[in-house]
Amino acid sequence: MITLGIETSCDETALCLLESKDGKYRILGNIVHSQIDLHREFGGVFPMLAKREHIKNLPILYEKILKDSGVSEGMIERIAVTHGPGLEPALWTGILFAKELSSRLGRPLIPVNHMEGHILASLLSQSNPHNDFKELKKIEFPALAVLLSGGHTEIVSIEEMEKYKVLGSTVDDAVGEAFDKVARMLNLPYPGGPEISKLAEQARKENVKNEIKLPRPMIHSKDLKFSFSGLKTAVLYVLKNIGEPTLEQKMDIAREFEDAVTEVIISKTKSAIEDNEVRTLIVGGGVIANAHIRESFERLAEENSIPLLLPASGLTGDNALMIALVGTQKPSSDYEGFRALGNLSL
Ligand code: KG4
Ligand code: ZN
Repeated sequence: MITLGIETSCDETALCLLESKDGKYRILGNIVHSQIDLHREFGGVFPMLAKREHIKNLPILYEKILKDSGVSEGMIERIAVTHGPGLEPALWTGILFAKELSSRLGRPLIPVNHMEGHILASLLSQSNPHNDFKELKKIEFPALAVLLSGGHTEIVSIEEMEKYKVLGSTVDDAVGEAFDKVARMLNLPYPGGPEISKLAEQARKENVKNEIKLPRPMIHSKDLKFSFSGLKTAVLYVLKNIGEPTLEQKMDIAREFEDAVTEVIISKTKSAIEDNEVRTLIVGGGVIANAHIRESFERLAEENSIPLLLPASGLTGDNALMIALVGTQKPSSDYEGFRALGNLSL
């Protein structure tokens, strides 16, 4: 079965063609067209601009993916599209494109939750097209998923496939959002996550002295809630005190911020592992591109002897492969009339 995946929830227009057979899969095409350069001057994603760009790019990328993969329209057997959470004007562009295609081709249309996509992304071992069919990585249930993205920070227990229970989430900013906001304070370009990460790594390599201290918000709270807005405010106060920071001070702040965020996330995950039976640990979302956070999860999983599933490089951020993969797991029942849901939860 060939599934076309469509993702337009934020600032990436993404399409993919995924072939599945007897539980194995083969990537026929995978395109992620980022709008980051256009949004950078706004310091974040500007929804109406994202909508305009998706509308412009979807038909172009669709033609391209068919041509590059040698797949004809008639070979597409189902269409999977993100319907939330995300920016509603952006989500609608993908949904309307998918609905038109589905009715023209007479193929079923499956609405997909973007966060479920970030969970299943870790089951694929690469993001580029390949010729041979591969096995999906296995999840042993019950599993625990930690989702770290620009809009979400969640710890999710997974009883079995598709049975999700959110155990804890952020009460204010998402972790990626905090990275982006702190980066902006340091005059670093959007998206700030990779920029902060680079500075932090440099600070560790050069042994820059740790003079700036930041809080570890809610690390001792007895629940699995996160809060990152206080951390952002703490950075603001540090900057107020020191005035224009030197490069060394920026490195110190970046490393201390990354350490603070990592310690909180790891500590909460540890509590979740202690309080729940966990046979597989999954981490997903754009922030898991961060090397320091990745290594910390690897250590945690090893210490607790729990298999860890992390998305391959190219699959941490938003992409359509993860959407198509979720689409292949769903029944092709009648989802007629579904809509974009900006706040859709798991
Ligand atoms: O999952 P994602 O691509 O989009 C959403 O669904 O939100 O996540 C994007 C977020 C951004 O906030 C970005 O700054 C962050 O992921 N990010 C990182 C890194 N790479 C991307 N954060 C920390 N370190 C990174 N290396
Ligand atoms: Zn995402």
